Amino acid sequence: MRILLLGSGGREHAMAWKMAQSSMLEELFIAPGNAGTRQHGKNVSLNPTNFDEVKAFVLENNINMVVVGPEEPLVKGIHDFFLADPEIKGIPVIGPGKIGAQLEGSKDFAKQFMMRHNIPTAKYATFTKDTLEAGYSFLAGMKPPYVLKADGLAAGKGVLILDNLEDAQKELKSMLADAKFGDASSRVVIEQFLSGIELSVFVLTDGDSYKVLPEAKDYKRIGEKDTGLNTGGMGAVSPVPFADATFKDKIQNQIIIPTIKGLKADGIPYKGFIFFGLINVKGEPYVIEYNCRMGDPETEVVMPRLRSDLLDLFEGVATNTLSERDIQYMDQCATTVMMVSGGYPEDYEKGKQIFGLNTVTDSIVFHAGTSADGPTVKSAGGRVLAVTSYGKDLESALKRSYDSAAKIEFDKAYYRKDIGFDVV
Ligand code: AMP
Ligand code: GLY
Repeated sequence: MRILLLGSGGREHAMAWKMAQSSMLEELFIAPGNAGTRQHGKNVSLNPTNFDEVKAFVLENNINMVVVGPEEPLVKGIHDFFLADPEIKGIPVIGPGKIGAQLEGSKDFAKQFMMRHNIPTAKYATFTKDTLEAGYSFLAGMKPPYVLKADGLAAGKGVLILDNLEDAQKELKSMLADAKFGDASSRVVIEQFLSGIELSVFVLTDGDSYKVLPEAKDYKRIGEKDTGLNTGGMGAVSPVPFADATFKDKIQNQIIIPTIKGLKADGIPYKGFIFFGLINVKGEPYVIEYNCRMGDPETEVVMPRLRSDLLDLFEGVATNTLSERDIQYMDQCATTVMMVSGGYPEDYEKGKQIFGLNTVTDSIVFHAGTSADGPTVKSAGGRVLAVTSYGKDLESALKRSYDSAAKIEFDKAYYRKDIGFDVV
């Protein structure tokens, strides 16, 4: 297979690493990729949201499958773009069409979908500029903390959790009337606060059948003990110890199956990953959010635990034969620790030379935000490297990740020393 993988983060490096192990792979291109992905294929400087550029590359290079890493091209309709064009309609795209991607692209769409299909989630109501006053009253009738969500994509910043009513009402106004998140906050979902511990569950589906991947837990806050600002993710572990067989059965029966059947019942074709952001409320799983792609940094622990050939699974998605494929994962645990640029998630500097990458022998270093300058690797983002390790338990995997991270240096590097603190 000749594959074009779109994206440039740690998720894409982990997927490239996994695909490169497949005997089905003939050639892998990553657009735009990073200094890590070039170890597994050819980086090409394409913009994943410039669909005409993607099409031209696909035709010139005889690509026979496009794998989409991030949500943006999906929400913008890359899958529909392929299907609508006779020259490329036969080339499978792994990732849902525009409507399916609305599960992530619109919180209100996702909420309505869950209500329609009886999928457990927090109670909610949606407001616009025209119903701002009703929004104030709705908030006044709720108990704190107040959860406000911009309806559209807001680069992971669109969710606000506020402890007092005045602040919540002020923020609601700023989102709806003053376009705090631009168009993304022209509608706002207000929902009941759920208290519990979160986990991420992933399935791959061809629209009819599905395979469940290893579950993971990510750590979103910049500071230890989950304090400080939200980030793209500071580390992850898999498996998640509290997700026992009973809890996983509930996830399957109350959430995964109704979602797959619901998509079908609504006439929404869906070929790709569904990421279920879940919360465990006293032993019952609830959906906090859907994403139409894999998680990052969760992919950096999920791919290493996947024993099956990823391209075989993707071929099953493309040809509607996923039910005939086998998915197996390793018993070994995997952990990842994210090394970030000092200052992230606020202002930070890029272009710092990274030292010590070749001294790491006990971990896989997935690149999240790096660029190559000849043989030199430099930081090129807030999240720079995901240091992934295996272990017979989470503790031993974490120890390896931390020992390896200690061998890597760049100016102002920072990482949390407590990944897994709440589950080991
Ligand atoms: P989201 O972008 O929807 O995943 O929200 C970001 C984060 O806000 C989640 O990972 C949760 O930690 C938190 N969150 C979102 N919705 C709720 C809720 N209803 N109750 C409690 N926490 C929430
Ligand atoms: N780790 C959360 C996400 O990928 O959205």
